[in-house]
Amino acid sequence: MLESATPVTPVTFPPAFLWGAATSAYQIEGAVREDGRTPSIWDTFSHTPGKTAGGDTGDVAVDHYHRYRDDVALMKDLGLGAYRFSISWPRVQPTGRGPAVQRGLDFYRRLVDELLAAGIKPAVTLYHWDLPQELEDAGGWPERDTAYRFAEYAQIVGEALGDRVEQWITLNEPWCAAFLGYASGVHAPGRTDPAAALRAAHHLNLAHGLGTVALRSVMPARNSVAISLNTSVVRPLSQSPADLAAARKIDDLSGGIFHGPILHGAYPQTLLEATAPLTDWSFVQDGDLGQIRQPIDAICLNYYTPTVVSAADADSRAPRADGHGASDHSPWPAAEDVAFHQPPGERTEMGWTVDPTGLHELIMRYNREAPGMPLYISENGAAYDDKPGADGTVHDPDRVAYLNGHLTAVRQAIADGADVRGYYLWSLLDNFEWAYGYEKRFGAVYVDYASQQRTPKSSALWYGRAARTGTLPP
Ligand code: NOJ
Repeated sequence: MLESATPVTPVTFPPAFLWGAATSAYQIEGAVREDGRTPSIWDTFSHTPGKTAGGDTGDVAVDHYHRYRDDVALMKDLGLGAYRFSISWPRVQPTGRGPAVQRGLDFYRRLVDELLAAGIKPAVTLYHWDLPQELEDAGGWPERDTAYRFAEYAQIVGEALGDRVEQWITLNEPWCAAFLGYASGVHAPGRTDPAAALRAAHHLNLAHGLGTVALRSVMPARNSVAISLNTSVVRPLSQSPADLAAARKIDDLSGGIFHGPILHGAYPQTLLEATAPLTDWSFVQDGDLGQIRQPIDAICLNYYTPTVVSAADADSRAPRADGHGASDHSPWPAAEDVAFHQPPGERTEMGWTVDPTGLHELIMRYNREAPGMPLYISENGAAYDDKPGADGTVHDPDRVAYLNGHLTAVRQAIADGADVRGYYLWSLLDNFEWAYGYEKRFGAVYVDYASQQRTPKSSALWYGRAARTGTLPP
């Protein structure tokens, strides 16, 4: 439920509010063998039979590496004020260590210059899941050294772009990197070892802390450093103590495991107790928690749908409806006693229930978790089965309704006192939706994958009007 009773109509945002769109490197760039780039874990994974729908890979994706100028021009035409993209680590540091490849960095220098010339604020994500394969071969995120390698990489990129990019995000959704990558295995590198996933989560936190320090050591002080989290909005099926305990567990495993150390310098005691059968957490070394709890300038939140849980009885254990892909292995370590339920209501093409009240709840929760902290919605959007009509236009009224509902929830959260500074629609373009390949279209702009032609959907035009006027169009 929205917590405030005051409706805000018309829905107008503060003048400085940033209206952006988001993408990530592996999902859009293609050009995987150009200019010195080496494979990331996603190249290896997507080329492994059976791992992605239809065997799709990011080899070509939407060819953004070659079409970035057109894509920036498109954003400018739409009227967007900001663009969040990620850097491909193996393009910049092919082996995950050592000196940078200038040709790789040059691509991002050109992209940023193009954005600035178009009056669009760049926001850089350093890690959106494409770990250099060599680092995975050395153990990947469950290995502590990966965090130090990330700090080195962050410093390289900070040095190259820190003079012209003000907004920095260390990691995107470390939950997915740790638990889909190392526990359920539906994402690269496809490992299914829940204890390793918990180590991965800690080393991602350490990478965030070390990376933040590394960035600040080479960048102007005005730049902002943040992290993008996808904490589940967990709703217990009932208020019974058992269902509330199930909700607490999933909240710890999706949120507290990251914002605990990052904001408060500690892992939740309830998390340590729940995971005790799998690990004693002795990989957390002296000084790590201080290193992770760096002052940050903002928290970025990604939100799509809420999560409904109950205590599992014998019948509800097997079927899972947590929306994170099909696997015999759960992404949730030590949560065999939790059952997931499909929330009621309309669903998107991902099967995710549309519920803007969850976004309001998430924002207000972080407003309490970190009082006064600037917040951004770094991703929000929906996949629908979009198809061009006979005249070539693409009408996606469901996506317009989704965006309208969620932006209204953001505005409500601002009215309720949260300092939300901007919103990045996921995604600018249709793209490679990880294990779902190209089947699921999240773009505001339609991409014909055969010709690479871009066609703004009606949602892009709607969102562009919102961006230009600061008011949600009727
Ligand atoms: C979160 C991820 O950051 C992004 O890469 C993905 O495409 C969207 N969610 C949609 O699933």
